Amino acid sequence: MFVILLGAPGSGKGTQASLLAQQAGLAHIASGDLFREAVQRGTPLGRQAREYMERGELVPDRITVPLVMERLEAPDAVRGAILDGFPRTVEQARALDEALNDKGRRIERVLYLKVPREELLSRLSGRWICRACQATYHEVTYPPRRAGVCDRCGGELYQRADDRRETVERRLEVYFEQTLPLIDYYRGRSVLREINGNQPIPSVAEELLAAIRQDGG
Ligand code: AP5
Repeated sequence: MFVILLGAPGSGKGTQASLLAQQAGLAHIASGDLFREAVQRGTPLGRQAREYMERGELVPDRITVPLVMERLEAPDAVRGAILDGFPRTVEQARALDEALNDKGRRIERVLYLKVPREELLSRLSGRWICRACQATYHEVTYPPRRAGVCDRCGGELYQRADDRRETVERRLEVYFEQTLPLIDYYRGRSVLREINGNQPIPSVAEELLAAIRQDGG
C-alpha cells in the first residue's frame, strides 16, 4: 500500500508517518530526511539542497524526483510506503503516479493533516529531533524523558536550522502556493481523506490508521 501524508510544515507528518509505518509494516520515506542525510554527508546533492532548505524554498523537482524514486526502489518499499513530504508539487505527483503505474501500483490513500497556522508556529519553535534516529519531540507537548536525549535510542537531540521564525514563515508561504494545489489534484480520485491534525498525537494516529484500514478508495 502506498500512502501519502500531506500537510503544512509542523502539521505532524513526520511524527505520524513514523508511528503508522511501524503499525502498518510499511517503509517510511521522508524527502526532508533524505535531504538532511545528504547535507550531513556533504555530498554534491546535499550541498545543492542545503541552499534551498536554508531559505525555506523547495528543492527543485529535477533534484527531488530522482532522489525519491531511487529510495522507492529499496527492498523495504516493495510492499508499500508512507510518503512524508513528497510529493510537494503537481509535477512531483505526476512523476510518482507514472513510476507507480509502471509497477502496476497506485496511491491508495492521501491523508491530509489540517492544523491551524498559530499551532504550526508553536510546534516548530518547540521541536527537537534525534540526530541518530530522527525521532521527533516537542519541549512542551511531547518532551523526552531526559532533556536533550532521545527516549528511543539515547541519541543527541537538536533543533533544525530551518525552524527559525523567518524561515518557517517562508516555508508556510511556499506550502500554500505550491503544495496545497495537490488537494485538488487528488480530490477527484476518492483517495483523499481530511484528518483533524489539531488533536493529541494518539488521537490523530488513531484517525489515520482508521482511514488507512477503511475499504474503498
Ligand atoms: P521537511 O523535512 O519535509 O519539512 P516540512 O514539510 O516543512 O515538515 P516538518 O518536518 O517541518 O513538519 P512535520 O509535518 O513533519 O511535523 P513533525 O511531525 O516534525 O522538509 C524540509 C525542507 O526540505 C523543505 O523546506 C524543502 O526545502 C526540502 N524538501 C523536502 N521535501 C521536498 C520535496 N518533496 N520537494 C522539494 N523540497 C523538499 O511535528 C512538528 C512538531 O510538532 C514536533 O515537535 C512534534 O513533536 C509536534 N507535534 C506533532 N504532532 C503534534 C500534535 N498532534 N499535537 C502537538 N504537538 C505535535
